[in-house]
Amino acid sequence: MIVLGLETSCDETAAAVVRLNTDEGADGRGEILSNRILSQIEMHRPFGGIVPEVAARAHLECVDAIVQGAMDDAGLGYDQLDAVAATGGPGLIGGVIVGVMMAKAIARARSIPFIAVNHLEGHALTARLTQGVEFPYLLLLVSGGHSQLLAVRGVGDYVRLGTTIDDAVGEAFDKTAKMLGLGYPGGPPIEAAAKLGNAKRFALPRPLKGKPGCHFSFSGLKAAVKRALDALPPGDLQPQDINDMAASFQAAVAEVIGDRTRRAIHLFRDLCPQGRSLVVAGGVAANTALRDTLQAVAAAEGLTLAAPPLALCTDNGAMIAWAGIERLRLGLTDGLDFAPRPRWPLDPDAPKATGAGIKA
Ligand code: KG4
Ligand code: ZN
Repeated sequence: MIVLGLETSCDETAAAVVRLNTDEGADGRGEILSNRILSQIEMHRPFGGIVPEVAARAHLECVDAIVQGAMDDAGLGYDQLDAVAATGGPGLIGGVIVGVMMAKAIARARSIPFIAVNHLEGHALTARLTQGVEFPYLLLLVSGGHSQLLAVRGVGDYVRLGTTIDDAVGEAFDKTAKMLGLGYPGGPPIEAAAKLGNAKRFALPRPLKGKPGCHFSFSGLKAAVKRALDALPPGDLQPQDINDMAASFQAAVAEVIGDRTRRAIHLFRDLCPQGRSLVVAGGVAANTALRDTLQAVAAAEGLTLAAPPLALCTDNGAMIAWAGIERLRLGLTDGLDFAPRPRWPLDPDAPKATGAGIKA
């Protein structure tokens, strides 16, 4: 089974070809035959964030070449594909439309199934592509737009245990980096600066740590970073201030995520007693300090941590192609009338998360 996957929901134009590996001993994992990613980061850098209109136009300009490149790298013709999948949402709608239209056109021209993949499901299932992790598992999804803890019971079967009541964790990394003059996206430079800094220099809060449930909150942390920076002597930030703040911020984030994840493991156990794995996914999952914390939490709770390789944590086409394979195996394909979705929760029944009853 071979599927082409397109990802255009944010600031990467990506396409990949993945094959379901049915060899003996392959544990039903996937084999990535090609994986092309074109980042638009340089285009958005002057704005300190993603400009949706700029992103949509850039996707439109290069999607043909990226898809053709992925097919060439895989050494395949379109007639060898079993299906074509594209991110159908959630995300910046202009970009999503570009990927969906491209995939629909290929599906139509070649008479193969089209599959609309939920971007979050792409992240959620990546550990099955790379490590063959079995259902059910607890998923910590931490990206630029999402911070969620979900019980993953099967393809399309998610129970949201926790989410953020304000900012996403990646957003907190990006905004803190901006305050420190580290540029966009903020995660990688904060991680690099933190290695040189003193995490005890700034006493930052640990929002919601120890509170019931497993929701997250990051806006207070961001505000505390600003207050601490404002309290420094006037003048330019010194490299040591930047490194110490990056380290203090990253330590606070890792500590809260560790605490929330530990609580989520307890909820997950009640829901899925046979679950054995904690899976981390999304761009922030590339953070090594966070991975170390999660490793310790998982070990203490008797779970195995499965973290995809760093390059498959941030947005890519392989995760969409793989989610396409998972859906195709179950006969879950979509019509060419599928309408791109700016919002598309994995667990539509989850109530809106608020701070009521937790913050006090
Ligand atoms: O999953 P992703 O590529 O795109 C979304 O779907 O949001 O995640 C991007 C986010 C950005 O906020 C970026 O700053 C963050 O992931 N990120 C990191 C690291 N690498 C990327 N955050 C912390 N540490 C990193 N090493
Ligand atoms: Zn993503």
